[in-house]
Amino acid sequence: MKRIHLEIALGTLFVIASAVLLIIMASEEPARLARFEVEQRAEQIEFGALVFETNCTNCHGSHAQGIPGKAPCLKCPEFFSDRLGEVGWGGSLEDYVVSVVTTGRQVSTRPALYQGEGTGVPVMPTWSDQFGGPLREDQIRAVAAFIVNFESWAAEPEAPEAYPTPLFSVDVNDPIAVGRVAFVQYGCVGCHTVEGLSTATTGPVMNGIATRAAIREGYESAEDYILTSIQNPGDYVVEGFNDGVMPINFGEIISEEDLTNLLAFLMTLTEE
Ligand code: HEC
Ligand code: HEC
Repeated sequence: MKRIHLEIALGTLFVIASAVLLIIMASEEPARLARFEVEQRAEQIEFGALVFETNCTNCHGSHAQGIPGKAPCLKCPEFFSDRLGEVGWGGSLEDYVVSVVTTGRQVSTRPALYQGEGTGVPVMPTWSDQFGGPLREDQIRAVAAFIVNFESWAAEPEAPEAYPTPLFSVDVNDPIAVGRVAFVQYGCVGCHTVEGLSTATTGPVMNGIATRAAIREGYESAEDYILTSIQNPGDYVVEGFNDGVMPINFGEIISEEDLTNLLAFLMTLTEE
């Protein structure tokens, strides 16, 4: 009798303990997800800064402050408070930005302020590759995230010319910094860990790759091995991992320039 009681007591205790554990785990899940979302957003804004610096500063100014006669300020308070009302847009500001950038503008909504190059030439070019422009959808979404991130700065614009530092800033002339963004942009972060950047484990950890690559047999140099690994993953299959997991089309989709930048970034990862 006693033993049965003990077993029931232990069983009950076990059920309660499991339930408590589950509740604790479930309550931490939203926090973990929220952290993940914040990190993802930060990456997107960083990437958007790069898209902006390469494509938009000619007209909108080096600091998005606008250029008189050419293109409006995209970080000024009025843009955040009045613009949607002026154009009668019912959705969010971020969707407005995505929409304007995607299609561009044939004619200005403020011809007195922004004339463009003349009749027949759009005042703002079409950016989306769906309409023959140079940007993919993820790049347009990123640049929109970068622009709406100015909102908190616009609320307290201490110095109108100051560039509110985005969460990260990318020096477009630094191949390593651009390569790091490319590592995010091409989804390498989905499978490879780089300390401080990603934690995925489907593929080998990238920290130390530059050192390991230098001693792989059959390759001319560390660079040669890394480039081959990206363009033709099956050429050398890392021990403990399977062939056919890493996409085989990176050689086709990554531009020469991005490949050079990616390589520059990966070559800095000398320490395990
Ligand atoms: C050739 C010059 C030019 C370039 C390059 C350009 N824009 Fe524009 N953009 C304009 C002009 C002009 C307008 C204002 C049109 C109007 O008043 O209707 C504008 C409007 C906008 C607007 C809407 C602003 C508002 O007040 O409604 C956004 C957002 C925008 N541009 C984002 C971008 C982004 C992002 C890029 C780079 C991918 C870019 N633009 C590149 C000329 C340019
Ligand atoms: C879907 C998962 C996946 C993605 C995405 C992916 N990889 Fe890989 N990668 C792997 C796996 C698995 C291996 C190990 C098997 C092999 O050697 O092919 C690997 C191997 C490598 C290696 C060799 C590593 C070593 O230790 O020798 C390099 C370098 C590399 N990947 C770079 C990249 C880069 C750069 C990108 C983005 C452009 C990328 N990978 C995207 C899964 C992935």
